[in-house]
Parts: sequence; structure tokens; C-alpha cells
Amino acid sequence: MKTIGVLTSGGDAPGMNAAVRAVTRTAKHAGLEVIGIERGYEGLINGQFIRLGVHSVSDMMQRGGTFLKTARSERFRTEEGLEEAMVSIERAGIDGIVAIGGDGTFRGAAELADRGLKVAGIPATIDNDMGYTDRTIGFDTAVHTAVEAVGKLRDTSASHERVTVVEVMGRKSGDIALYTAVSCGAEMVLIPERPVTLESLCRQIQADREVGRTHSIIVNAEGSGYDSAKLASDLRELTGSDHRSVILGYIQRGGSPVPSDRILAGVLGSRAVKGLMEGKTGAYGIRDGKVRECGIREALEETKPFEEELYGLISGLSLRGEK
Ligand code: F6P
Repeated sequence: MKTIGVLTSGGDAPGMNAAVRAVTRTAKHAGLEVIGIERGYEGLINGQFIRLGVHSVSDMMQRGGTFLKTARSERFRTEEGLEEAMVSIERAGIDGIVAIGGDGTFRGAAELADRGLKVAGIPATIDNDMGYTDRTIGFDTAVHTAVEAVGKLRDTSASHERVTVVEVMGRKSGDIALYTAVSCGAEMVLIPERPVTLESLCRQIQADREVGRTHSIIVNAEGSGYDSAKLASDLRELTGSDHRSVILGYIQRGGSPVPSDRILAGVLGSRAVKGLMEGKTGAYGIRDGKVRECGIREALEETKPFEEELYGLISGLSLRGEK
């Protein structure tokens, strides 16, 4: 292994820059050449490469986004695109690639591995939706951002005695919603993993009123099946109380990574390079506080156990249910 490439792909996540820094510095310290591949797999096909040295990644760790840029490449999903990517790789003399991103990135990495390239996958997505790892880089920062926002919404909801539906990201995963809801003491959470009926929501709002709660926060995961604006207007109609809805959106993807995301990026970035130097192809994640290594397809297939205990805290710690 003489030259490694590094790319970030899919939706950006806070901590991607810290991961690129860790990959670059670990590789340079081991005497390898490092090529930064811009715009993910799209840039790989186009040969958009930049040389990275130890100074190229100075002051990067604290920056949100990804300085390598990112993209969701349609071309890379085609046989022709993959072939073009392999030609670019050969031309640049790249012996192995560290791919930083979510499940789409890992699927791309598996395709490259099938064509004989050594690849190391690092999980980076705010969604925390990869079953083989307890955490993905960017998740903790996204939750931190959402918690701050909900805190502010709580102030105004309480003043106006309103119910506020706050929509968070996460695609098909309810993790951002669940962690945000527990951290904010939200009265209700709507997540794809545990569907809740409109009737049951109305009953809970009613029960809140009966115990003297005149305002509530409902954290709605984007994959729950509920449109936040429609839900707020349905609840207004059905319960008669004042409702508002807010979509937090892309602010959850930006910002300086929190320490846990920086640390995870450092640990996994460094291990990924070491794995490539040992001639391995694999995915690197974290399980019970330790680095976990497995196959890339294995990483894609594993499903995430649902955190029932955490979910139970939403109603378990609410005002409702006092005897
Ligand atoms: O995967 C990260 C994520 O932010 C999801 O939570 C969201 O559904 C999606 O990306 C949005 O993607 P795009 O940037 O293409 O709008």
C-alpha cells in the first residue's frame, strides 16, 4: 500500500473533516501518499483529486461540513460509472480508499471492493442508522443542535400555551427524534419504529391538560409518516388547543462537531488506514466503547436493535401517570 484515496459521500455530517484529518495524518505518518477525492464517487469518476499533506488538514477538525465536498452520484450506480471510477483509480495509482459516509457510501465501497480495490468504510451520517455500529459520526452533533432548538421552542410554546410539533431529520431512523425527545423531556415522540395513531396523540394531549400541562412538545421524525404541518392542524381541529409546527431541516447537518464526534472520527479514521495497510477491506465502527471491524456488506446487512428503554422514558418520565 503506497497511496490511499479518501472521500466523503452522501449527506454531509459534522465530523467528516475530523475523519479526513485522521486518515491523512495517520497515512502520512506511516509514509503513505494521500489523495483527497472531491465530491465523493462523482469526483472519483471525474478524477477530481487533490494531494493531501499533514498541513492540508490543519484547523479542519472543528469545521462542520466537508472540505472535500460531497455528492450523491447517480453515475456511480451504473456499470459504466463504476468502470470509469476504476480507470481513474488506476491512473492515479490509488491502492486503497477510505470511504466516509452512510449506507449509500458503503454500497459504493462494496462495489469497488468487488472489483478488487482495498476499501475501508467509516460511518458518517447524522441519521445513526447503521446497525453494525453504536454511533455514526455526526449524530451526537445533530442531536445537540436539535436539543438547543427545542429548548428555544419550549420557551415560546410555554409562554403561549401551545403544542409545538418539531420535525427532525433521520430518514427511516427515529434516533435523532428519540434522543432529542429524551434530552428535552418532550411530551411525545413520533418515530418510524413505533407508529402512534392520531387518536392516541389526542388522548395524550388531553391527559397532559388534565394534569395541568398547558403546552407540549411533540418531536416528529421525518420518517414517522406524519406531515408536521398537517399534524399540527389536525391536532388543532381535534383537541381545540393552539398548535404550531417547525421543521428544523438542514441546520441539523451543519455546525462544529461536538467532542464525541471528533473523537469517534479520530479513532475510526486512524483504524481504517491501519486496516488498509494490513491489506484488509472492511468497515470500522464502535460497539460497547470498542472499535469494531467487520465486512462492508456485513455492516450493511446488520439491523439496529431498537432502544426500548429510552423510548419508555418519554411517557415514563412525563407528568401523566401520577397516582
Ligand atoms: O442522511 C442524512 C439526511 O440529512 C437525512 O436525514 C435526510 O433525509 C437526507 O439526508 C436529506 O438529503 P438531501 O441532502 O439530499 O436533501
